[in-house]
Amino acid sequence: MKAARVSEALIGSMIAEPVFSEQGNLLLKEGVIVNYHVLDKLMIHEIDYVYIIEALTQGIEPKGIIEDEKLLDSVRVVKHVFEDVLEYERMGVKSAISKEHIALVREVINELIVELEKAEDILYTVVDLIGTDAYTYRHSVNVTVLTIITSKALGYRREDIKNIALGALLHDIGKVRVEPELILKPSKLTFEERKKVEKHAEYGYELLEAIEGLPYTTKQIIRLHHEKLDGSGYPLGLQGIEIPEYVRIVTVCDMYDAMTTDRVYRKRMPIYRALDILMAEAIYRIDPKIYTVLLRNIAIYPIGTGVILSDSRIGIVTGFRKENPSRPKVRVLNNSPNSSEIHLEEIDLENSQILFIEDVWDVEIVKQKKEKLLN
Ligand SMILES: [Fe+2]
Repeated sequence: MKAARVSEALIGSMIAEPVFSEQGNLLLKEGVIVNYHVLDKLMIHEIDYVYIIEALTQGIEPKGIIEDEKLLDSVRVVKHVFEDVLEYERMGVKSAISKEHIALVREVINELIVELEKAEDILYTVVDLIGTDAYTYRHSVNVTVLTIITSKALGYRREDIKNIALGALLHDIGKVRVEPELILKPSKLTFEERKKVEKHAEYGYELLEAIEGLPYTTKQIIRLHHEKLDGSGYPLGLQGIEIPEYVRIVTVCDMYDAMTTDRVYRKRMPIYRALDILMAEAIYRIDPKIYTVLLRNIAIYPIGTGVILSDSRIGIVTGFRKENPSRPKVRVLNNSPNSSEIHLEEIDLENSQILFIEDVWDVEIVKQKKEKLLN
């Protein structure tokens, strides 16, 4: 229960304690969910604060495909390795990446594979790891998880998956040689700046080239992960079958995660929009087969996603099935502007012929607005 200032940000919250007018008349009973009608009433009676419970989101715990702690451990190892390599590079050490570093990241991969086996028929979702480090480390781990899922679904053997995943985890290691100001630049890069950033693919390959026992697959992924089937990619401008399938997997997973994660220069986009963009890319530039496999293994509307239904009602996703992820279960707010009779309704979109999800809304932004309004 929280005390919250009366404002539009209360829409969807439940009144936790009875509200009385200055004259002592009961205005609202506990349990009423705030809609515009209720809000008007509070404002007319000049009520400044009420006690609320977050009704719409109560009891909904967004869950990632891998436990937060495990994911955080992986991010920490990647951070440690990247920072080590960066330091050795600056000191001019010849082989900045050591066999020990590779052993550490291999261990991370083994653990991720084991974790994903436990989650056999769960769709891919990640939750924001609050307070974790720079984008590159989180991104590397996300791309690795997606790569493991996708290559498994494509029928790769465990040993091959490990080598592909190693390429995924280290795909951007070459960024240690790019000026950090460019990596973190919040505005659009100039042509020259973009060319400098693009060099990370070759740099990564150079860093790993001399390491004995590192699979060819892994090195190729690091070098070629920005190649596109139509020849528009870099560094070599390869086309079609010149780009091995295991490289294409990482390319698609990299693009997907880059679009659905917050960056310094833009907010993340909703999952379904990212998948739409990838579908367009799958006409010429990325492998359509890999796109299809990825699509089948991603939760389009993960639990906790704010959605707007085709009849304009707002809601939160409370569950979904792997076979039909675009028709999840949704808790909606029946928010009639003319009535104070308001309630929450659980709808299973799989059973509805007429309702569909029209858009998504950012639960986090609404929550943050509410936090600011709190006492
Ligand atoms: Fe990259």
